[in-house]
Amino acid sequence: MSAYLEVSGVNQRFGGLQALNDCGFAIAQGGITCMVGPNGAGKTTIFNVITGFLRPDTGHVAFRGRRLDGLRPQAIVAAGIARSFQNLRLFVDLTALENVLIGLPSGFGEAPLGALFRPFHTARLDRARRAQAMERLEHVGLADRAAEKVRNLSYGEQKLLTVARLLATGAELLLLDEPASGLAAGALDQVMALLRRLQGEGKTLLVVEHNTRVVQQIADHVLFLHQGHLMAEGTPAQIIADPALAEIYFGGAL
Ligand SMILES: Nc1ncnc2c1ncn2[C@@H]1O[C@H](COP(=O)(O)OP(=O)(O)OP(=O)(O)O)[C@@H](O)[C@H]1O
Ligand SMILES: [Mg+2]
Repeated sequence: MSAYLEVSGVNQRFGGLQALNDCGFAIAQGGITCMVGPNGAGKTTIFNVITGFLRPDTGHVAFRGRRLDGLRPQAIVAAGIARSFQNLRLFVDLTALENVLIGLPSGFGEAPLGALFRPFHTARLDRARRAQAMERLEHVGLADRAAEKVRNLSYGEQKLLTVARLLATGAELLLLDEPASGLAAGALDQVMALLRRLQGEGKTLLVVEHNTRVVQQIADHVLFLHQGHLMAEGTPAQIIADPALAEIYFGGAL
């Protein structure tokens, strides 16, 4: 039986730098997998490969037994994998609701000619999309901020908004690049609770995370990346207890 998500033999070179070096791993459906590793280990780069933002020099990605290599990002979202970005990539002059609307799969064939000839139908569609976007905001606890411009949201709220936008895609496998970084304790707990809730609702999550407290609390399984290669994997307890990994990660105890 094939794995839910399977990455194998991925190499990616940037000039003289081997960012991914025979990178491979598999993740099971239904849990939260945390990806850890020092700065520059290749975590964001492998996300870029999985989601079609980067075509690697070699290697394969398969999802539910189907090869994804060569597909464009939109096609990969349609196949069921969506990702968030380390630097959020929100539209700060648009409202929270508008940012989620952008994440909804677009109704091709409806606009713009459809709007001309079937105005009532289009208005109904528009209302339906707004309701759907609103539902995603409610899902992450931001309903009361829907009309606010993103630049007026707190950093924690912006992080939650990136998750709402991810949910808007309808994808079943969510890749989150440091969803909790830079957050104070309260907002951190909120994000952790949200990720757990999503998993409970049937999503599968792959989460890049530096904070060991977060990893301990949310991860079912941990992948440790080092110099572009999967160096170790195991339960959070196994990974955190390994002195060799701690040395690589922090130059000391985890
Ligand atoms: N487009 C690119 N061009 C050149 N070098 C790149 C590019 N993208 C990533 N790199 C380099 O590849 C290496 C891996 O980067 P990557 O962003 O994947 O690391 P990371 O594990 O996500 O690190 P961090 O924890 O700091 O986010 C780094 O040395 C980085 O500078
Ligand atoms: Mg990164």
